[in-house]
Amino acid sequence: MEYISINGKRKLSGSVQINGAKNAAVAIIPAAIAAGGKCVIENLPHVEDVTTLTHAIEHLGGSCRFPDEHTLEIDSGGINQYTVPYDLAKKMRASYYMLGALLGRFKKAEVPLPGGCSLGVRPINYHLRGFEQLGAKIHTEHGIVKAAADKLTGANIYLEFPSVGATINIMIAAVFAEGVTQIENAAKEPHVVDTANFLNKLGANIKGAGTDNIRITGTDGLNGGDYSIIPDQIEAGTYMIAAAITGGDVTVERIIPKHMDSLTAKLEEMQCETEIRDDSIRIKAEKPLHAVNFKAMVYPGFPTDLQPQAAALLSVSSGSGIITETVHEQRFQYVEELRRLGANINVEGRAAFVNGGAELTGAQVNATDLRAGAALVVAGLAAKGETVIGNVMHLDRGYEHLESKLAALGADVKRISHPDEYDA
Ligand code: UD1
Repeated sequence: MEYISINGKRKLSGSVQINGAKNAAVAIIPAAIAAGGKCVIENLPHVEDVTTLTHAIEHLGGSCRFPDEHTLEIDSGGINQYTVPYDLAKKMRASYYMLGALLGRFKKAEVPLPGGCSLGVRPINYHLRGFEQLGAKIHTEHGIVKAAADKLTGANIYLEFPSVGATINIMIAAVFAEGVTQIENAAKEPHVVDTANFLNKLGANIKGAGTDNIRITGTDGLNGGDYSIIPDQIEAGTYMIAAAITGGDVTVERIIPKHMDSLTAKLEEMQCETEIRDDSIRIKAEKPLHAVNFKAMVYPGFPTDLQPQAAALLSVSSGSGIITETVHEQRFQYVEELRRLGANINVEGRAAFVNGGAELTGAQVNATDLRAGAALVVAGLAAKGETVIGNVMHLDRGYEHLESKLAALGADVKRISHPDEYDA
């Protein structure tokens, strides 16, 4: 078992380069299954979820090759299987995109219900209802979703909630539907737009991605093609918060600053200085931080995937703040772990009340999910003494070279393989 050990209370300084967006990558790789030709995907983050997806493609009969760490060549021409094995699907939420991709191209898919972070019930009923509206027959048997159709036909699909996964999944399948599909109340997150851009590059006709009404005109098939993935909004935000919590001075590079607007505004409100350039943001946290309220919402609101890290930041700020979660049902499991480090947070339903001014001190803690792990890393950077974080496989699903990037900014952080090495 591996652990991340952090000796906190060191100000971060310097610059850090952000990788490609994990949540775009895990949609674009399955979308490449639909292509049937050779796709070259650049600026991929080298994280576990990407590796898992390449194994799934190989299992289906396609081939994957990494010419370098951040580039993946996918040839899905040889795919001759439509069943994704349980062991691969359970590792990640985004395995559900295999449904849309296989159903679209082959009119047949069998995919186990997805795994990934446990943030509440997380059903995929909107995805399945959307496929049914396109003409697919769906049934779930022994935990496996089985989808089949003679043909798919365009439809008007209204989403009860602007679900990122359902929007992307329906969009991928609808590329192969006859006529026009409209997704209303669609998600507007940057990775929805990125997946649409990728599919359009391969010959799809998708308009309106980034608005709440997406229109897809079906095509007979897609070509292969090259594509470069957008920077990771959540990785960038995690480093911006890490800079702020340590009173540091960090430039987060190779990002799209617009994607960071909701966080940048909050950090400014908390008294951080920011310098926004074309593809970077500098965060200077010289003044004491003031607590503010955060409301996690769909894009362009404050991202739910930065909500746990924001709680860590509020814990050490002066005053108190409320975090309201409107996207996921249960996204406060990390609070108990932050409390071990000395954070003073009370949860009531979908709100967390954070009393600031805590003197965080190192402790042994567990990452309960990916972004919970990120919150513990950020808190550990501000805690006195050694923090040892277990269950790092969650962090490895979403953060490339986490320790070396933090170490380059001046953090005292290392990966250890045995808790006995923990001597706090
Ligand atoms: C994606 C992200 C995740 C992020 C979330 C919200 C990926 C791989 N994961 O997850 O990191 O936290 O968006 O930005 O991109 N819902 C239903 N039925 C459905 C679908 C969703 O009830 O069929 C509910 C969910 O339980 C949740 C809410 O809708 O409460 C939002 O979910 P959704 O936007 O679909 O998130 P994911 O695609 O799972």
